[in-house]
Amino acid sequence: MTALHIALLGYGTVGKGVYKTIQTHQEKLKRIFRKEVKVVAILVKNIEKHHTLDSDVLLTDDFNKIITLEQLDVVIDAIVGQEPSFTYLQQAMNRGCHVITANKEMFAYHGTQLKQIAKEKGVTLGFEATVAGGIPIIQTLRQLLNVNNIQKVQGILNGTSNFILTKMREDGCPFETALKLAQEKGYAEADPTNDIEGYDAFYKAVILSELAFGENPNWEESIRQGIQSITPEQIELFSALGYRFKHVASMEKTEKGIVCSVKPVLVNETHPFYQIEGVQNAVSIDGDIVGNISLQGPGAGMLPTASAIIEDLVYINKHSFSPIFLDEQNGLSVKVSKIYWAMAGDAAVENIPSHIQIIDRPNPNVLIVEASWEEICDIQWPNTYFYQVLGKVLTENTLVSS
Ligand SMILES: NC(=O)c1ccc[n+]([C@@H]2O[C@H](COP(=O)([O-])OP(=O)(O)OC[C@H]3O[C@@H](n4cnc5c(N)ncnc54)[C@H](OP(=O)(O)O)[C@@H]3O)[C@@H](O)[C@H]2O)c1
Repeated sequence: MTALHIALLGYGTVGKGVYKTIQTHQEKLKRIFRKEVKVVAILVKNIEKHHTLDSDVLLTDDFNKIITLEQLDVVIDAIVGQEPSFTYLQQAMNRGCHVITANKEMFAYHGTQLKQIAKEKGVTLGFEATVAGGIPIIQTLRQLLNVNNIQKVQGILNGTSNFILTKMREDGCPFETALKLAQEKGYAEADPTNDIEGYDAFYKAVILSELAFGENPNWEESIRQGIQSITPEQIELFSALGYRFKHVASMEKTEKGIVCSVKPVLVNETHPFYQIEGVQNAVSIDGDIVGNISLQGPGAGMLPTASAIIEDLVYINKHSFSPIFLDEQNGLSVKVSKIYWAMAGDAAVENIPSHIQIIDRPNPNVLIVEASWEEICDIQWPNTYFYQVLGKVLTENTLVSS
């Protein structure tokens, strides 16, 4: 029986999960591919750390030994950072290998180029694992794009920051305490910058944006705010009004291009993200035919991420697809929907400029207003803060939607 020959770049959390899943699901994979699915080589940085591998697997720290293997069908990338991952995947596709990556940072920066090479070489490029781990968001978007124009995509795309916000609310603890707990549980890195400052979510937003709208958001004009400045007092204030903080990435096609933001927002129980707690991720998509659909599930971890990679592997067999290119697709542009903000603090209640419409005053210290991002940024009073409210705003007599 011939075999499908796979090289695995990286043998950390994700790499080990993929290796293990290929072994535990070998019979199923054999039925799909009609041949054995074999990891023939693994690339690592420090070989000494990995001495327990099967002896028939080539374990190496030299990519040249992998790319020159006589038989190689698929290269799976589970290493960290833009380089050398980008260079290795180009080499693999140029050799005619199908490629699957979990590396979101590399893919956010170089995905467009890799898609182009895949198209030219007629190979498959899978990247399901780069966004929201076990949630099949990439395949879902591909499927929807057959007929729908996508108008808006929003997501809780970073489980670490969602865990921290959940803990702060449940335990009433400060940010630093919740972060320490996330680190103890292995959800946050020793250097948590990427997660808590929104870089990780932004990379994923870029990947989703290019798939959904066929274009990248303008990186310079995009908004990226982390969760570090949220205090237990703010959480308590808005919890009493029925709101929860969520760290949300939003991508919307507008007349000005793709508007992308990653920032803390407020949602109430009418919004699908209200119930997304702990390390869970969620994605909500607005399509012109389907309306709104939401998916939720594990956003990271060894097996959920391996599941996404193996799904990409199976897709190679089913479709031997060329990636979807949306260059000329999706001419639709929508007007930015109304934006509502919850404002609180010393001056907020007294000094609202007349062009900003007040929607509600749920308590003496909090206002709900309608304003654009620029208008709200113009307000720079000391001790005043504001957060966008997603979804429906519950006012005394009415229900308004953003
Ligand atoms: N962890 C998750 O839940 C998750 C979810 C979705 C996507 N991802 C993405 O998947 C990738 C892997 O994440 P991970 O959590 O598995 O990371 P990890 O546990 O730190 O493992 C990284 C692996 O890559 C190897 N490596 C790093 N740099 C290398 C280089 N220059 N050359 C060769 N090998 C190199 C390391 O080798 P050594 O073992 O020898 O150090 C290690 O085996 C990342 O891009 C991450 O963003 C992770």
